[in-house]
Amino acid sequence: MPTVENERDSIVQEIERLKNEKNAVILAHYYVCDEVQAIADYIGDSYYLAKVAVGLKESTIVFAGVRFMGESAKILNPEKTVLMPDINADCPMAHMADVEKIEEVRKNYEDVAVVCYINSTAELKMHSDVCVTSANAMKIVEKLPNKNIYFIPDENLGRYIAEKLPEKHFIFNDGFCHVHKAVTADMVKRAKESHPEAEVLIHPECTLEVLAEADYIGSTSGIIEYATKSDAKEFIISTELGVLYQLKKNNPTKKFYAAGPTQICPNMKKVTLEKVRDCLRDNTGVIEVGSEKRIKSLEPLSRMLQLAQ
Ligand code: 13P
Ligand code: SF4
Repeated sequence: MPTVENERDSIVQEIERLKNEKNAVILAHYYVCDEVQAIADYIGDSYYLAKVAVGLKESTIVFAGVRFMGESAKILNPEKTVLMPDINADCPMAHMADVEKIEEVRKNYEDVAVVCYINSTAELKMHSDVCVTSANAMKIVEKLPNKNIYFIPDENLGRYIAEKLPEKHFIFNDGFCHVHKAVTADMVKRAKESHPEAEVLIHPECTLEVLAEADYIGSTSGIIEYATKSDAKEFIISTELGVLYQLKKNNPTKKFYAAGPTQICPNMKKVTLEKVRDCLRDNTGVIEVGSEKRIKSLEPLSRMLQLAQ
């Protein structure tokens, strides 16, 4: 009788064979499930994955993540085939801003820079001046000559950056990540009481009240790097729990605790090993971006890559 392990091994072998046959490479975000991270050629945060996507030699990119990630890879690599294992894996926050509001803000503030978190649709990007990720937002906004910054779609990341850059004037938008917003300051305080020796590592998509409890604030890569270098033995983690795969791999003797009970992104978890195999085998989940949208949204993405260097 085939065991679960045997079945998984045979899917992994099939993926390897298909990758060679189709000249494909697999990119995965830290939030997808462990078994997909385990077979990825590149794993990282949103900034790293956008950088890696540029200059790959393979002709097909399988993007194990949510839609805005596959879309960004396609915009940066129009000549390549970009496949998403689940085309319905979509980040709700990516839709939480609107073009009419952007135009209105542009009319009200002559010198405004529309700064667009990469967790956004191509439609929003094409109406923006520059993209950012949680790993590079501070550096990029600081470099912009504009005083007025309209930060879309994530209010929490916008407010975190705004606190650090008081010389800028921010206009906020009310988008949010439901996974990070669900973590409350009380939850983190209770986790601290249970684990007084632990360092608290928090993603800036959490609210400012939650961030106030942090020993370290950063992107998924930042959190993993911090925990790996730290002398502490225990950590409270306030981001999506897919990061535990890499955290535990890098730090087998350290202990990690979740700050809240619901730190799972249902869209990231739609990406399974079977779906990775199926999209490669059947050429499904092909990402297409219309040429006008692609050309206009390439500008803020390229500007991000340039300014973040
Ligand atoms: P980073 O990996 O860039 O920290 O982004 C987190 C996230 O929410 C991606 O959807
Ligand atoms: Fe979007 Fe939040 Fe899921 Fe990231 S974790 S994809 S921001 S819903």
